[in-house]
Amino acid sequence: MTVESVQPETPPAVELREPPRAGGGVPVLGHGWKLARDPLAFMSRLRDHGDVVRLKLGPKTVYAVTTPALTGALALSNDFIIAGPLWESLEGLLGKEGVATANGPRHRRQRRTIQPAFRLDAIPAYGPIMEEEAHALAERWKPGETIDCTSESFRVAVRIAARCLLRGDYMDERAERLCVALATVFRGMYRRMVVPLGPLYNLPLPANREFNRALADLHLLVDEIVAERRASGQKPDDLLTALLEAKDENGDPIGEQEIHDQVVAILTPGSETIASTIMWLLHMLAEHPEHADRVRDEVQAVTGGRPVAFADVRGLRHTNNVVVESMRLSPAVWILTRRAVRDTELGGYRIPSGADIIYSPYAIQRDPKSYRRNLEFDPDRWLPDRVKDIPKHAMSPFSVGNRKCPSDHFSMAQLTLITAALATRYRFEQVAGSRDDTRVGITLRPHDLRVRPVAR
Ligand code: HEM
Repeated sequence: MTVESVQPETPPAVELREPPRAGGGVPVLGHGWKLARDPLAFMSRLRDHGDVVRLKLGPKTVYAVTTPALTGALALSNDFIIAGPLWESLEGLLGKEGVATANGPRHRRQRRTIQPAFRLDAIPAYGPIMEEEAHALAERWKPGETIDCTSESFRVAVRIAARCLLRGDYMDERAERLCVALATVFRGMYRRMVVPLGPLYNLPLPANREFNRALADLHLLVDEIVAERRASGQKPDDLLTALLEAKDENGDPIGEQEIHDQVVAILTPGSETIASTIMWLLHMLAEHPEHADRVRDEVQAVTGGRPVAFADVRGLRHTNNVVVESMRLSPAVWILTRRAVRDTELGGYRIPSGADIIYSPYAIQRDPKSYRRNLEFDPDRWLPDRVKDIPKHAMSPFSVGNRKCPSDHFSMAQLTLITAALATRYRFEQVAGSRDDTRVGITLRPHDLRVRPVAR
């Protein structure tokens, strides 16, 4: 018996490889200029270079993950946390104590506080509000007039989030202020991320002043909402009450700053993502009248002609598939980042501790390796007998793992209901001057979509 044979068996050390470097970098800027110039095309081509590739962004090495399986592995692994330039810039502006940027025990505690408001069995309580808002939107529009899809989509998204989750009756005036503030803040934040000019953003230039005003108003609005709720002495069963009553790890009430940052961390992603998705849905209804007609037919078959209700949503299979397919081709969240907290690996590639990792749901969801006729709008690819051909994690618009969007059911219910209500009432056509090309910001949305509703 040799000495080796009585040693406990250790798995053979796997030789980790260095990820290949993406081609096309230039001195000093590396791949940064390509990422800034045409980020969607750049991210979509990275898989040609490898499953994990190294990018140079200025002096920094960043790792990009390009396959569905590895984006799933990344999102599900404890070796990576939420961090990186995107989150740092968000924290600096929106607050450091909200759930979207927290990690570790604080994040777990915060998720426990907010999760009940988004659970599948909590959603029906929001049904009447979603119904009311979807029909009010359809009624607000008149046949033949031009709809500014950006402001209208923001408006309904903010109203639904605020009415369902914060139970406020402060609607239109505050919803408008929130829309203006959020649109300006998100535009400015994206600019600060891709063109990091540091102190130049402190100069008293008109664009910086407008940005600072919008940011201040966003924080003021949240303070007003919290103060009003406290003054009312009421404790409705909603997310705001859950936040106001939340306790920290020691059982003490959470601080004012955390309450504030939590409201911001929920309202901001909640309205920007939903608003962008509604804009793409309106674009889809205008550009694919055959699917708009199928949605209308399905709604009529399910409702027998009465106004569509929340309870109908589960029966609206095709409408749901239309929403999913629209989110596949035009995902609101197009880029996500993580940071490695230890030396680790992905797909056999070495990832050093501290490395920033990026991946693009846009690139993953349009990849011809995952989708046949990948650029075609085909809602039937989500039918049960076809969906099995789609690789795991090739469609995760809400992500997976411990950072998964808490609002997946909440979002799908309202998007399906709004699509059903609008397609039943109108056909849509784009009007002259509408700009439906993609505007890349923190989310993806059409530049300036304008449509005309035509009565059915
Ligand atoms: C997180 C997508 C709507 C609140 C996320 C993440 C994604 C996402 C991909 C994970 C980010 C990551 O992995 O780094 C979407 C999409 C939406 C949507 C596509 C609609 C179409 C909403 C709404 C709300 C919301 C309506 C709230 C009202 C949040 C919050 C987080 C989050 C608080 C942070 C979760 C955490 O870090 O634990 N969302 N979201 N989202 N989303 Fe959503």
